[in-house]
Amino acid sequence: METRILGKTGMEVPIVGMGTWKTFDVRGTAAKRNARAVVDAALMAGVHFFDSSPMYGEAERVLGEALQGRRRSALIATKVWAYSVSEGHTQVNRALTFFDNFIDLYQIHNLVLWPEHLNMLEQLRDAGRVRSIGATHYASSAFGELRQVMLTNRITAIQIPYNPIQREVEKEILPLAADLGLGVVVMRPFAEGALMRHKPSESDLAPLKSFGVTTWAQALIKWILSDTRCHVTIPATSNAGRIIENAAAGEPPWFGPQERALVARLATRA
Ligand SMILES: NC(=O)c1ccc[n+]([C@@H]2O[C@H](COP(=O)([O-])OP(=O)(O)OC[C@H]3O[C@@H](n4cnc5c(N)ncnc54)[C@H](OP(=O)(O)O)[C@@H]3O)[C@@H](O)[C@H]2O)c1
Repeated sequence: METRILGKTGMEVPIVGMGTWKTFDVRGTAAKRNARAVVDAALMAGVHFFDSSPMYGEAERVLGEALQGRRRSALIATKVWAYSVSEGHTQVNRALTFFDNFIDLYQIHNLVLWPEHLNMLEQLRDAGRVRSIGATHYASSAFGELRQVMLTNRITAIQIPYNPIQREVEKEILPLAADLGLGVVVMRPFAEGALMRHKPSESDLAPLKSFGVTTWAQALIKWILSDTRCHVTIPATSNAGRIIENAAAGEPPWFGPQERALVARLATRA
């Protein structure tokens, strides 16, 4: 698995990580055993960057349990998503108990109450509990505000959606992130699974075979990571086998403009 430096965070990250929205919001022994199997497969495949949030129900807790005894083999990117300062503190204290008192990348989820939470996260960073601070938003209508936060120079990474049917970040966000040297984490590589509903055929994908791509999921992951302004993407899955499939796309050779155009055509046709 190729690694990249996540911009000014200075962290060396595997370029394929994993999200936990829905897939890790689970209860019960069998579901938790499955989550652990997904994490086992991830670590074996070099996928050791995990994204979570208190917005995802049980996900932080389930991820923390699956990493018990091996927390330091992982990089944890989680979030504060709170409409009051006191709820923000409660969320942080909870996350610190799940992840051995340290968070690698603490992000402000959807920019909720960002001026207040930024102060709190800076204090935690100064106290050695947090390595880096970031901000996320899923909606292009919030990109103006995201720009404002980026320009404070108080965050070192952003998390944004980017895939062949959601390309708004190409206009301003990716160029600004590159100018400022910010780390870029890409959410929703499969558009929440929507891009998986109509998969192109094997013959459609044939021109991508020499790039090590044999599945549609790999084509989409490689489409993102071939833009080297993006440092890590975090597909979510509840299926250990798919982790291995997704991780395999984290190797060069990278697509050129022709291959990226082909994937974009196939995605919009679907
Ligand atoms: N505002 C924010 O900060 C924000 C917003 C959205 C998302 N995120 C983060 O980004 C992560 C990723 O986004 P997402 O979960 O919305 O969507 P996604 O990663 O684009 O898609 C997830 C879906 O893709 C399927 N999938 C995964 N690998 C596959 C494969 N190889 N072949 C076929 N299907 C596959 C999964 O189903 P199976 O489980 O069946 O494999 C799952 O339903 C989230 O989990 C979360 O951590 C952050």
